[in-house]
Formats: sequence, structure tokens, C-alpha cells
Amino acid sequence: MSRAYNFFAGPATLPAEVLEEAKEHLTDYKGIGYSIMEASHRGKAYDEIHNEAVANIRELLGLSDDYSVLFMTGGASTQFALVPMNLRGPGQTADYSNSGAWAAKAIKEAQILGETTVVADTSDASPARMPRMEEISESENSAYFHITSNETISGTRWSTFPETKAPLVADMSSEMLSRPIDPSKFGLIYAGAQKNLGPSGVTLVIIRNDLAERAPATVPTIMRYATHISKNSLFNTPPTFPIYMLALVTRWLKEKGGLAEMEKQNEAKAKKLYDAIDASDFYRGTAAVEDRSVMNVTWRLPSEELEAQFVAEATERNMVGLKGHRSVGGIRASIYNSFPPEGVDALVEFMKGFEAANG
Ligand SMILES: Cc1ncc(COP(=O)(O)O)c(C=O)c1O
Repeated sequence: MSRAYNFFAGPATLPAEVLEEAKEHLTDYKGIGYSIMEASHRGKAYDEIHNEAVANIRELLGLSDDYSVLFMTGGASTQFALVPMNLRGPGQTADYSNSGAWAAKAIKEAQILGETTVVADTSDASPARMPRMEEISESENSAYFHITSNETISGTRWSTFPETKAPLVADMSSEMLSRPIDPSKFGLIYAGAQKNLGPSGVTLVIIRNDLAERAPATVPTIMRYATHISKNSLFNTPPTFPIYMLALVTRWLKEKGGLAEMEKQNEAKAKKLYDAIDASDFYRGTAAVEDRSVMNVTWRLPSEELEAQFVAEATERNMVGLKGHRSVGGIRASIYNSFPPEGVDALVEFMKGFEAANG
């Protein structure tokens, strides 16, 4: 059976080589007689995998010793709560940029827990866009400044990151490890794994160590970043199989040339799709050109009926997951690191044919 071109936003496509390797070792991990899923999280086999995953991420991002790499659970949604719980002290606010659906969810949790300032709001902008730094005035007493670096639903991203006085905190769920970043510009980064890093079940957190010391005494042990730093993410049983898959995906990323090479490939894939959209009056992109996401490409057709027909006909051609998020409709092609360039070519060909038949 041939693999589908999988445009789902997450869980999403994974490198075929990685899946093959996992399959090969599924029942007997390198001769130990059982799978890595069945291995103790305190044993040698898992220990090596865990530490390789940490080391790969450190190397790919170029992290200094000031930062820790954590594997946590509960998805990015849990980080929406843990960030304010740990980082915001008494008498402080926390600045948030509201750039769309995911930023709004982060803001809602921060508001439940304490003083929160929405310093920019482009959530209703059409075309969808990110705030400009000149539209933002930071609070004097902000504990951190939160952004959603890539809005998965509206298909926008911060192409360059804001320079902020307070430590920058970024939800990078839908673009983690898709381009090089300067980690020293960030206080904390988090990402659910299920888009660019592996299967769902593990959340990657990169945290500047000094920020973990801020947590008020009322934060429970399991919810403190400092707990997970001090135990190398082994305070309790971690999601071992997702971390194993993340180790394989990050190994694959290194073999492919790292983040600079990924960025080149990702930009080339996205450009083909945006060029196809821009060349046509039938397709209409929904994100402002300068803020277009390289991971999630979003567009509309002249009617919802045509959009449904487009998705159905693409599915018949083995191109799956193109339906836009249920909250906004339209079409969305998620083209993460491991999405093959041939899949983008196939989609562009299909778009041309669909327009010729229905335009
Ligand atoms: C940008 C962004 N943040 C947060 C989330 C929520 O992630 P999780 O389901 O891992 O909690 C998503 C999920 O799609 C997302 O795209």
C-alpha cells in the first residue's frame, strides 16, 4: 500500500524512514528481547534514547548550558497554564500577543491564574496577520512576553521574533525545529510534539534555567519546571515511546542537514503552494503575505461547496487532511519538515486541474 500525502495539521506526517526503523525494532529493541515501550524508564536501553533525544535537540538548536530541555506531558495546552503558574510572581502582570485561536487559548488560562495584559490583538484581522512591534507597548511590570510563533489555524507566523524587555515565551507547537532560531532571545519555548517532532504524547519545553527558580511556593511539585530540570524529565514516568520517536526524528533531522537545511526545504515547499495560490483568481490566500506561515498554508475557494468538493477529490487522489480547521473552514495544507516535496508538487498539479474544471 502506498503512503498517502498527509496534510493533517497534527498529529501529522512522520518521516517514512523513521517509521520503518521503529517498525524494525517494535517487538525486540536491538536484541534486548522486548520493545522500548516495555522497557523501564530507569534502564540502560531507555536511558540512552532519552539522553540522545536531549542531546539532539541541544545540538540542533545550539543551546547553551543556561537552558534545559524538558519532556513533559499534557500537550501545549498544559503549558498554557504552567507558564503563568511558574513564571509570574506577585504584583506582576504577563504580556500576551493575541494573534489568533491558539494565542487566545493561552491568554484564557493566564487570565484564570492572575493578571494578564493583552498588549496586541490581531485575532480578528482579515487577512490574518501577526502584530507589528510598533503596535505593542510592553507593561512595565511584566513577568514575560508570550507569543504564538505560528498560528496553526489561520496560517500566520512571526517571520522575525519581537525584541522584548521581558523574557520572550513562545508557543512553537506548529513550527518547532523548522528553522534556525537564536535561543538566547527566548526565556521559554514549548511545543506539542505531534506536528514536527514525533507522535502526540510528549511536549518539548526549552527553558532558561533561572526562570525555573521563580515559581511561587504554592505550585505543586509535578507542575514546577524546576522539578523536571533537576530530574532530567525523569521525576515520574515520562512518555517513553513518544520520546523514543522524537529521538529518531531528531536524529533524522541531523542527518538531513539540521535546521538551516530544513528551513531551505520548507521555504521551497511553501513557495510552490503560495505561488500557485497567487497565480490564480480562483484560490485566495487568507494570511497577509508578509506573515504567511511556512508550515500551514491556508486558502479559500469561491464557495464552501467547491471547498468540500476540492477536499473530496484530493482525498480520492491520496492527498488527505486538506480540510481547514472546523472553526474557520477553507483549505489548509500542513507541510511540516517531513512532508515530501513531491506531495506539494502533486497538490499544485491537482489545484491547476481542479481550477480548470471548476473555475
Ligand atoms: C499553536 C498551537 N498551540 C497549542 C496547541 C495545542 O496543543 P495540544 O493539543 O498539544 O495541547 C496546538 C494544537 O494544534 C497548536 O497548533
